[in-house]
Amino acid sequence: MSKKLYLISYGCQMNDYDSAKMVDVLSASHGYVRTQDPNEADLLLLNTCSVREKAQEKVFSELGRWRQWKQDGKDRIIGVGGCVASQEGEALAERQPLVDMVFGPQTLHRLPQMLEKTRETRKAVIDVTFPEIEKFDNLPEPRAEGVTAFVSIMEGCSKYCTFCVVPYTRGEEVSRPLDDVLLEIAQLADQGVREVTLLGQNVNAYRGRMGDTAETCDLALLINYVAQIPGIERIRYTTSHPAEFSDALIQAFADEPKLASYLHLPVQSGSDRILGMMKRGYSREQFLDKMRRVRQVRPDISLSSDFIVGFPSETEADFALTMDLIHQTGFDTAFSFVYSPRPGTPAANLRDGVSADEKHARLMLLQDTIRSYDEQFKRNLVGTTQRILVERPSRRDPTQMAGRTSHNRVVNFDAPAAVIGRFVDVRITEAMNNSLRGTLLTVEAPAA
Ligand code: SAM
Ligand code: F3S
Repeated sequence: MSKKLYLISYGCQMNDYDSAKMVDVLSASHGYVRTQDPNEADLLLLNTCSVREKAQEKVFSELGRWRQWKQDGKDRIIGVGGCVASQEGEALAERQPLVDMVFGPQTLHRLPQMLEKTRETRKAVIDVTFPEIEKFDNLPEPRAEGVTAFVSIMEGCSKYCTFCVVPYTRGEEVSRPLDDVLLEIAQLADQGVREVTLLGQNVNAYRGRMGDTAETCDLALLINYVAQIPGIERIRYTTSHPAEFSDALIQAFADEPKLASYLHLPVQSGSDRILGMMKRGYSREQFLDKMRRVRQVRPDISLSSDFIVGFPSETEADFALTMDLIHQTGFDTAFSFVYSPRPGTPAANLRDGVSADEKHARLMLLQDTIRSYDEQFKRNLVGTTQRILVERPSRRDPTQMAGRTSHNRVVNFDAPAAVIGRFVDVRITEAMNNSLRGTLLTVEAPAA
């Protein structure tokens, strides 16, 4: 009987990607199969996140719950990966002796060896180093799950924003060679993938080596190459950094129809004073200018961002500038957070001074405003015809199919399951809270 792996993943899309790779690696090396039931698991893995609040406590309380599976007489292994593991290293296993393996985002491919070693020595194995790019060379061939896929093109971050732990937990920016990325996408396309999301902490810092030359390929050029891979019809990327959002990337929205009409560009704040304290490397005006130019070349684009409210010393006036920036850009989706001091980051030493109530009130106002732009965006789609990539049956009603528009909006509509994996034209008839409804118009011909 195959061995069972139970895995909990916290945090960002990068972590989701890493978790999927952990399953792939262990399935290839030891035949592990994922289970949703920890009782039947031989191996339990926790992929952690430390970007915000109480991350450590959350990890230790989850591990406390896992004690029962270590003490019931079965020979189970427990591993902790991700950013908390990377930050804590050895200390994690010391504080929680039931942990057998501690690994970081860059060492997950070594899980099979770590597993053997801990079984053999009966001691905790710790490896939270940053062996550049080695991870990708040691992962099994990608397996498509459906018609959309994420492909990691770079790792880490070298921006060192004063509030953020990522550069310390995931290491500096490292790009995968261009050929490796293109090969992985071609392999996915052969398995039926039609839409690919290029993934990284700062994808527009991508500088992939081109063959054996000294030249590098940037994100705009990469998009160009990916668009030429047979089968790939839609391209997205996330996350990018405003300082490196180049003219070439703006131009790509004008020139490349396969590039989806969706852009996630985290701005964090609309106040130059706060942006300076965060060391973001751009001004409010520079950001607004880029947004105006993107809208000029792609008027229907959906714009998304990340915001932090209540950064130390943020005044009402600073926050008003953030709200004004939202009104000027009309972001229709966003991830927004109350600032959370992260141990070891420069901002953690700043005096706070903004009350918890005030932070909460600012967050609510910001989220309400984004919600109203979201509703407006969806209302504007009603009556239009949208090209949808059909992904799966609808969650509520299996006689309906679900897919997403170029703007990343989910649409449900009556259609046979045979259209899954195809692009269809749908007339949008109604805007719901979290999705849209539509009527099927035409279906693209099946691939030859
Ligand atoms: N690369 C992205 C960028 O250009 O800003 C950010 C990636 S970061 C892991 C994801 C988001 O988490 C950030 O955009 C920020 O809004 C939020 N975040 C990071 N550190 C935070 C902190 N200390 N407190 C609150 N939110 C935080
Ligand atoms: Fe964090 Fe800033 Fe990089 S938010 S991931 S240090 S761009």
